[in-house]
Amino acid sequence: MYRNNTCGALRASQINSEVTLSGWVHKIRDKGFMVWVDLRDRYGITQLVFDQDRTSAQLLEEAKALGRETVIQIKGQVIERASKNPNIPTGDIEVLVQELKILNESILPPFTIEDETDGGEDIRMKYRYLDIRRNPVKNNLMFRHKVTMEVRKYLSNQEFIEVETPYLIKSTPEGARDFLVPSRMNEGQFYALPQSPQTFKQLLMVGGMDKYFQIVKCFRDEDLRADRQPEFTQIDCEMAFVGQEDILNEFEGLTKHLLKEVHGIDSDDFPRMTYDDAMRLYGNDKPDIRFDMQFGELNPVAQHKDFNVFNSAELVVGISVPGGASYTRKEIDKLVDWVKRPQVGAKGMVYVKCNEDGTYKSSVDKFYDQDDLAKWAEVTNAKAGDLICVLSGNTNETRTQLSALRMELAERLGLRKSDEFAPLWVIDFPLLELDEETGTYHAMHHPFTSPKPGQLELLETNPGDVKANAYDLVLNGNEIGGGSIRIHDKEIQATMFKHLGFTPEEAKEQFGFLMDAFQYGAPPHGGIAFGLDRLVAILGGQETIRDFIAFPKNNSGRDVMIDAPASIDNEQLKELHLKLDL
Ligand code: AMO
Repeated sequence: MYRNNTCGALRASQINSEVTLSGWVHKIRDKGFMVWVDLRDRYGITQLVFDQDRTSAQLLEEAKALGRETVIQIKGQVIERASKNPNIPTGDIEVLVQELKILNESILPPFTIEDETDGGEDIRMKYRYLDIRRNPVKNNLMFRHKVTMEVRKYLSNQEFIEVETPYLIKSTPEGARDFLVPSRMNEGQFYALPQSPQTFKQLLMVGGMDKYFQIVKCFRDEDLRADRQPEFTQIDCEMAFVGQEDILNEFEGLTKHLLKEVHGIDSDDFPRMTYDDAMRLYGNDKPDIRFDMQFGELNPVAQHKDFNVFNSAELVVGISVPGGASYTRKEIDKLVDWVKRPQVGAKGMVYVKCNEDGTYKSSVDKFYDQDDLAKWAEVTNAKAGDLICVLSGNTNETRTQLSALRMELAERLGLRKSDEFAPLWVIDFPLLELDEETGTYHAMHHPFTSPKPGQLELLETNPGDVKANAYDLVLNGNEIGGGSIRIHDKEIQATMFKHLGFTPEEAKEQFGFLMDAFQYGAPPHGGIAFGLDRLVAILGGQETIRDFIAFPKNNSGRDVMIDAPASIDNEQLKELHLKLDL
């Protein structure tokens, strides 16, 4: 028996009992005649005491020789601590060690295993198994487990069935590149790893499963960001005989359940906003509504004066910054520089200070009088003491730029509070999105998404105007889930493929199996997938999903611990019928 208690278990009520503990040597304090060792495992830390008077001089010497992260087993007696530590649950007691056994030595770790470590990101990724010993990482993984368990519990109670779908499949288009796997047995042919189980879950609906879910790995070969990994996990769900309203209610229920179980928060019904409103009011299809700062479109009140920059702009749009009127000239110049950075890309920024005395002072006083500026304040909802920031230009670009500024200002003003949760459904997404470079349309969600009833005809005349029964769940400015009502009719699906530029042959070759299935009584169906990594990170008050994944990839898509991807030898290449031509 290695242990009869964990390092987080012992309390004052166990004083005098004999215990066996195992764990890692976390810290040693050597006072000469006495040594204290913090023994750590997943559950916590217990203080061990070695005392030559109460046990033996030899044991004391052995304790002094222990190195950090050595794995030991001890037997001893629980005693009351002279100086208690109120910061840890075991802080009332210590264990007077009578027997010490070294289970395994450790060489010196490359960084300290402490909450605040001296190890940089790269070294911690390389030695991820050591990083996992640290509380911040360990707690994130435990938090992930809790969320995952609650998801399973909730969905099972709602009669969802978890079904596993294959990983070696044919491409499912979700807008990224596929990871491909060469087939040894089928020369020259490749499997694709699923970007999502989309087509399989639809086939499960044709198969009558009715309510499906799966906590599943998805693979997308795309550029990485804080909220993106090449392999990530979805809570993938599908239901038959449902409309959009049913899906929104079901998964709002799941999200409320998580907020309640994880944070004890009782949520009101989630607000809903159309995609068009989200773009108009926040310049973004995933607005952070923890704070206001809505856009005010200023074209009617700012154009047709003598300011040509605005007159020639497609959109003039501003936001008011609470308390911003007190910014110094230097601070405002810095903001202007910020929006002009290449990452944001604005050409400049006009500002108006709304002074406490009710007057206005702007960077364009030459063109606008006090009455004009008062109208700007009204449109942007600015109060005395606020600063109005105005950008102008092409509608889409200007919205994106002002949205970036809004988020940056909110961050600086401390309005993005990590313990506040503001969920939002964004609905009525466009069905298609124009690729500015190629001039062609592609599916904004995916090609299986159904247009809104009665809008099919519009596809011929105004494809960009067709709205879809597609929705995203946004939490604190992050897209944590997205889904749609699907097409379940073979003819409509064929029409959709045609509009996406597939020839009938290409459509048949890639998705014939799905269209075939639709001929055998496909029920109306729809679903959603949550990004589990994102959901967990945001519920955990953070935005970097890497911190909630046990073994993540770095920004270049590498696992630096196992050193993957890696080259393979010629034998293996030959077996796979591959020839590298670099
Ligand atoms: P979608 O492509 O919107 O929809 O993906 C669903 C959710 O998955 C998360 N996500 C990611 N998380 C981490 N890293 C990534 N690279 C990544 N890509 C996406 C997001 C996103 O909201 N089959 C459809 C769902 C459906 O229609 O039912 C789908 O995959 O949180």
